[in-house]
Amino acid sequence: MKDLAGKHIVLGLSGGIACYKSAELCRLLTKAGATVQVVMTGAAAQFITPVTMQALSNRPVVLSQWDAREPNNMPHINLGREADAILIAPASADLMAQLVQGRAADLLTLMCLARPLERVPLLLAPAMNREMWSHPATQRNAAQLRADGAVVLPVGQGAQACGETGDGRMLEPEDIVDELVAHFQPKVLRGQRVLVTAGPTFEAIDPVRGITNHSSGKMGFAVARAAREAGAEVTLVAGPVHLPTPRGVRRINVQSALQMQAAVQAEIAQATVLVAAAAVADWRPATSAEHKIKKDGSGLPPALQFVENPDILAGVAASERARSGQLFCVGFAAESHDLEANAQAKRLRKQVPLLVGNIGPATFGQDDNALLLVDAHGTQALPHANKLVLARQLAAEIARRLPAKAVAA
Ligand code: C5P
Repeated sequence: MKDLAGKHIVLGLSGGIACYKSAELCRLLTKAGATVQVVMTGAAAQFITPVTMQALSNRPVVLSQWDAREPNNMPHINLGREADAILIAPASADLMAQLVQGRAADLLTLMCLARPLERVPLLLAPAMNREMWSHPATQRNAAQLRADGAVVLPVGQGAQACGETGDGRMLEPEDIVDELVAHFQPKVLRGQRVLVTAGPTFEAIDPVRGITNHSSGKMGFAVARAAREAGAEVTLVAGPVHLPTPRGVRRINVQSALQMQAAVQAEIAQATVLVAAAAVADWRPATSAEHKIKKDGSGLPPALQFVENPDILAGVAASERARSGQLFCVGFAAESHDLEANAQAKRLRKQVPLLVGNIGPATFGQDDNALLLVDAHGTQALPHANKLVLARQLAAEIARRLPAKAVAA
């Protein structure tokens, strides 16, 4: 997805072995639609050549404040003014210390000092040895940079080039891009705590078999990601799916409807919004055999008995907090036909203020979808688009409908 289309990013590199990952980062930024202007310190050029970064960004790299190519000879002013964001990756311990002190000995720090504070965000992806990262001076500097308005991204954890293991690795390039994309999203759900259910459930028949459905979880995961991008604290209760957890989202894995219900009940008191996107099995086997059910030679299948699963969403929607407007509940309806009538009926049956209809067979497993929003005032179509695009639109629609004072219990 071209999530950064139209954005101009100044990508700053300071000295550190993580510079080798900045090549990939540059590539991902341009793939996401951004134009990228690379600025490197002398130390960064010891780790990766400007030639590599020029080839990947398709622009000459700027290394010095004395670069005479700028007509007014003021690259430190021009570069910052043109940017939608300055992203420094890797940000070394020394670079952070310099920024804290407002030093401007080279072009990168000079440009950061000269950046229009209100208009051009500064994001830093620190990368250093674990001792350097945990040193009180570095931690103090990170806190001061945040207080000064910079976004200091978290560090990764794991093996380091020095042979040690711990905190201080640079975030992976994909994660940095996700953070940057999220940074540009409007914070319409800031202060909200959003609980999302996603995926199918799996209802065990015996230890090796069960009944489930074709829900891929993609729509619910996109909703979780979009809500987090919109500034919410997000918990995702996920049935059995093979999807990576969106950045910054807390995930609780479950298998069955009863487990999903228990997880939702444990979390719901903290939530201000519930988005129930899971395709919960309507029925489960009345009993799950302890051992694998064997063929007995009679040619007859085993007689399975089913019981109905609880309706998780309807249960929550009937709660005092939901009915009093402290918790906003959103349901999904996967229908095969008559979307509007079925969705409206389902909304009334489940007593939720907003129900999102989609055509089940057309959406399960797909990257794209089309939604029909149904509320007390009527319907609104969100036309065919990528699920993340739709999820962002849905987040904005939820935000628009929230009472001004939705608060957690
Ligand atoms: O009744 P139906 O399954 O079509 O309703 C779909 C909506 O209700 C979805 O939001 C789904 O997550 C939720 N649901 C639930 N618990 C169930 C069944 C559905 O939360 N047992």
